[in-house]
Amino acid sequence: MKTIDQLLAEGVAGKRVFVRADLNVPLDGTRITDDGRIRAVLPTVTKLAEAGARVVVASHLGRPKGAPDPAFSLAPAAARLGELLGADVAFAADTVGESAKAVVAGLADGHVAVIENLRFNPGETSKDDAERGAFADQLAGLADLYVGDGFGAVHRKHASVYDLPARLPHAAGYLIATEVAVLKKLTEDVKRPYVVVLGGAKVSDKLGVIDHLLEKADRILIGGGMAYTFLKAQGYEVGISLLQEDQIPTVREYLERAKAKGVEFVLPLDVLVSPEFPDLKTKAPANPSVVAADAIPADQEGLDIGPETRKLYASKLADAATVFWNGPMGVFEHPDYAEGTRAVAQALVDSPAFSVVGGGDSAAAVRILGFDEKAFGHISTGGGASLEYLEGKTLPGLAALED
Ligand code: 3PG
Repeated sequence: MKTIDQLLAEGVAGKRVFVRADLNVPLDGTRITDDGRIRAVLPTVTKLAEAGARVVVASHLGRPKGAPDPAFSLAPAAARLGELLGADVAFAADTVGESAKAVVAGLADGHVAVIENLRFNPGETSKDDAERGAFADQLAGLADLYVGDGFGAVHRKHASVYDLPARLPHAAGYLIATEVAVLKKLTEDVKRPYVVVLGGAKVSDKLGVIDHLLEKADRILIGGGMAYTFLKAQGYEVGISLLQEDQIPTVREYLERAKAKGVEFVLPLDVLVSPEFPDLKTKAPANPSVVAADAIPADQEGLDIGPETRKLYASKLADAATVFWNGPMGVFEHPDYAEGTRAVAQALVDSPAFSVVGGGDSAAAVRILGFDEKAFGHISTGGGASLEYLEGKTLPGLAALED
């Protein structure tokens, strides 16, 4: 894989460089609630601009339906990029239309522009190779060189991630290089005990990685909405908690395989429950109750791990040498349900283990809860991308940068 340093050594002054970033940041209206992904691409953008390139930054945001939708505009991200760079960043109101062409044509050496959300064009995410290719051809018209640095999107076979690098001389940016180097440490010569913490809403999103990690990890701790499918698989009632009934047989099989392999599978002992989901806008007090994991009332929903589980998980992390964590332990966006996620984050801060926090949500949670990013080994910008990497899958956006 060619590195951006090789590209810089060959000379980029005056060249239009298309940087595929992942600026898919969480928004509250137009307010960015966590700018981690924008900061993560700064080293690449800064180096290119300093070397005199005309930098065209592109990304997706959210999942618009192949047409312009102001709710998913990249304008707030472009403005934040400008603030972080301390420079004017031009913004094109379309992807490959008149605005993008004019903005790119007007870029001076060392200046930066952002084009509008790539997913406003149906060609970006199309399953049809020809449609994706046609969009990639148009994008290629905006640039002379391509730098892939949107790690969070490398698992997507999308035009700007997969097809465009085939059309331009290309290299991997600093973020992708760092992310891949870190994730390699979790797949080759892992220091043990290797403890994996998985949370988040859906167990179905994590099946592939659990399947794979059963061969690699020493201990797997489960929290978040997905924990209730595991509890149900153990024969417990889970009230009105999130449940993926159809996944119960698979989950049961995983629990049995873990036992046979000597992998310790740790499930919540207690949970915080409430009859209703909290108001995340007003953050009005939710007054949850603590119940044992095998005694969730029929009319209540589990929304965070409980205090005994927090202690248990902290103790299970204390002797780890390597930790991978993906997915919050509860509805951390509400203060009454943030303690489980906070306890896992704190346990990682307190532990000497090499810890990798992967996933948009857990990475954002760590920052939103006020932890110092430097206290963790690495905070990945990729959720699905880091999971698929750990599953051993070929990631289209990395494969495209290989040759
Ligand atoms: C992410 O948030 O994981 C990446 O930005 C990819 O987004 P996507 O799941 O909508 O493709």
